[in-house]
Amino acid sequence: MAVEIMDKIVSLCKRRGFIFQSSEIYGGINACYDYGPLGVELKRNVKEQWWRAMVVENEDIVGLDAAILMHPRVWEASGHVAGFTDPLVDCRQCKQRFRQDEIDPKKWEKRQCPACGNANVLTDARQFNLMFKTHMGPVEEDATVVYLRPETAQGIYVNYKNVMDSSRKKIPFGIAQIGKAFRNEITPGNFIFRTREFEQMEMQYFVKPGTDEEVWREWKDRRMAWYKRIGIHPEKLRFRQHGPDELAHYAKAAMDVEYEYPIGWKELEGIHNRTDFDLSRHQQFSGKDLSYFDDATRERFIPYIIETSAGCDRTVLTCLIDAYEEQKLENDTRTVLHFDPKLAPVKAAVFPLVNRDGMPELARKIMDDLRGEFIAFYDDSGAVGRRYRRQDEAGTPFCVTVDSQTLQDETVTVRDRDSMNQDRVAIRGLVPELRKRIWGK
Ligand code: GAP
Repeated sequence: MAVEIMDKIVSLCKRRGFIFQSSEIYGGINACYDYGPLGVELKRNVKEQWWRAMVVENEDIVGLDAAILMHPRVWEASGHVAGFTDPLVDCRQCKQRFRQDEIDPKKWEKRQCPACGNANVLTDARQFNLMFKTHMGPVEEDATVVYLRPETAQGIYVNYKNVMDSSRKKIPFGIAQIGKAFRNEITPGNFIFRTREFEQMEMQYFVKPGTDEEVWREWKDRRMAWYKRIGIHPEKLRFRQHGPDELAHYAKAAMDVEYEYPIGWKELEGIHNRTDFDLSRHQQFSGKDLSYFDDATRERFIPYIIETSAGCDRTVLTCLIDAYEEQKLENDTRTVLHFDPKLAPVKAAVFPLVNRDGMPELARKIMDDLRGEFIAFYDDSGAVGRRYRRQDEAGTPFCVTVDSQTLQDETVTVRDRDSMNQDRVAIRGLVPELRKRIWGK
């Protein structure tokens, strides 16, 4: 059942132009995906909501867009060269490769391989580094190795002084960034849940040591509230704190926001107390002073960092799953994506009821007005009921129809995707009315 829903979402995503397999005409490339016309809008809206909640609404947080390629020493300092590894085991019989921690421990004890099902000997675990390596310039030798960043965070840490000095911020303050990250995952999968190229939305908050635990608690609550604010069902969200044995090499405490996916409860975002680990290491490896001097208390210290690290693609997947519904109606089933209107790729569709009596011309004029505000879609083909269904499946919250009454009193019907109710609205007031229904103002 669960897997069935996932398959239906994957197929809807392709059919409606949300997400395609990358390089499909060449047979695809494993675990890489492209965002189509609807998907790119959904993703942009997710990012826009995150940026708004982080940068626009908070005077103490500023933005950054750092390069993907960084000095290789960054990844030595961060601990990724030595420690960003997964233990990998091979099955000698079926030749499949697994992350050791993903194999059922009971089967592991019996040394039974989960793929071929035969009791068999697995190889001992080897550490496999997840960073993608490439070379800078024309010579491929050790000295020219660079990495595709496996997290966006380090771009923020190495710029923290630049940002602080140029924007005259004082601690506590935060730096937010959205950007691509790359990991050579051993077991990618579940559509865009775990891929090798993905986007992160990360915010690093610099605080005085001693205040870190309280700030960490605040941020985990703020991040949970954000998912509710973008319309995710609260009962599908929960916290899960990491035990001491599963903490990343940089973290003193970590809390995941988890979502109940069709494949079970899984991590959506991590909120980490990274202590002074990163800045101390960068100070040590770069030889640059990264301490902070507090004018008021005359104290000097290396700031602690509270990180909120969300996967953008994983949030998109969460929005799709959370919004998906197959509604049984009297005579048929309607597939609806109940996106929060703020996230919906297309905000409104415009239909002339019939293609005559001046209705198309009027509908086109309304379309022009709406296009000045947001993405609207014009559709004049087929029965109006079918046109509604097509928009339901794309998650369009409002459908505006020009009918014969429009020609008499200059009103249109506005049909709500979720309730399927229709109201008559004056054309004059249509833009402000939709604006209110989408953004609440
Ligand atoms: N800077 C900290 C950090 O990167 P993480 O827990 O490794 O922490 C944070 O990653 C988030 O990034 C995850 O919660 C997830 O949403 C997303 N993420 C990580 N690996 C991913 C992958 N292979 N594919 C898609 N999203 C991923």
